[in-house]
Amino acid sequence: MKAVGFINNFPIAHPESLIDLTLENPIPGPRDLLVRVRAVSVNPVDYKIRQSRSPSGGKAEVLGWDAVGIVEGVGGEVCRFNLGDRVYYAGAINRPGTNSELHLVDERIVGAAPHSLSDADAAALPLTTLTAYELLFDRLRVAKGGGAGQSILVVGGAGGVGSILIQLARQMTQLQVIATASRDETRKWCLDLGAHAVVDHSVPLGAAIKAAGVEQVDYVASLTQTTQHFEQLVEVLKPQGALGVIDEAVGIDSTKLMLKSLSLHRELMFTRSLFQTPDMQEQGRLLQEVGDLVDAGRIKTTAHTHLGKINADNLRRAHALLESGRAQGKVVLAGF
Ligand SMILES: NC(=O)c1ccc[n+]([C@@H]2O[C@H](COP(=O)([O-])OP(=O)(O)OC[C@H]3O[C@@H](n4cnc5c(N)ncnc54)[C@H](OP(=O)(O)O)[C@@H]3O)[C@@H](O)[C@H]2O)c1
Repeated sequence: MKAVGFINNFPIAHPESLIDLTLENPIPGPRDLLVRVRAVSVNPVDYKIRQSRSPSGGKAEVLGWDAVGIVEGVGGEVCRFNLGDRVYYAGAINRPGTNSELHLVDERIVGAAPHSLSDADAAALPLTTLTAYELLFDRLRVAKGGGAGQSILVVGGAGGVGSILIQLARQMTQLQVIATASRDETRKWCLDLGAHAVVDHSVPLGAAIKAAGVEQVDYVASLTQTTQHFEQLVEVLKPQGALGVIDEAVGIDSTKLMLKSLSLHRELMFTRSLFQTPDMQEQGRLLQEVGDLVDAGRIKTTAHTHLGKINADNLRRAHALLESGRAQGKVVLAGF
């Protein structure tokens, strides 16, 4: 099968930073689906692993943690899906990625792909949906349908995760949603996705939210550059508020949360699959739930940039765009 991977940690401008490969077809384990991949999207984790992990023994490693495809084979214990089903999922960080014609994934972390979306538009959603949903409902513990009279600041609103988090917060809660964006096009994007207000993260956030008519917020979803913004996030949160973080947030000083009794919540959407937690099938269920909202016309795709077929040249362009920190919505690719 065709695949795209890397062997060496070259900068993305290097022609071999990502390479086209021909690999053996994989064989499903008991709970695995064998999926013929039709479309993928690209996430910052792809370039972070490419930059930091050294594949052992010169063996190429395949990246990519978002796919839409058709079930072409099933393991002996599979019970949720059948041959021919069209599925969407993010996969597991300790298994080969989705940038390959055939891919294995545990059925418990898979949902039926929304039928109202094209393959590329659906591939934009899984990883960021899992992240945003788990952050809002499992970590910050916002009640579904709740949040009346409360507010959330979404830092990095126009990025992949922000683009779906804004929509989930609007469609599934009553929270007032204030997003951050620094450019005209990303500001408009956040408003179109449902943000009540957008503030610029390149100016002091406390003054910016006040200018938008919000004194302080109950929740912060810090989706990027937490280290840079940390002290301002502490400032804008109400006493007893909650800070949700999905990036590394290297070096933040949690003692600064104490004065206001702020809680800190870390989210990693790979935790459930990595540790095979007893509730890991919750990821399949929530992808199904959000897929139904998509088909009901309440959530739209976050795909913004379609870079063509899934090959090393186009994936290098995708990594370069994400590494620039200026991606808007999601970058998607379809077909081999
Ligand atoms: N823990 C998890 O499970 C998980 C899951 C997914 C992602 N992540 C991590 O979360 C981070 C965000 O992921 P993503 O996919 O949303 O990224 P992304 O799509 O690459 O984010 C791009 C957006 O970031 C905004 N941005 C750039 N610099 C900023 C700054 N200094 N302050 C605030 N916003 C800024 C940009 O907005 P403007 O152009 O408007 O400035 C741009 O739209 C990454 O570090 C990723 O690795 C973690």
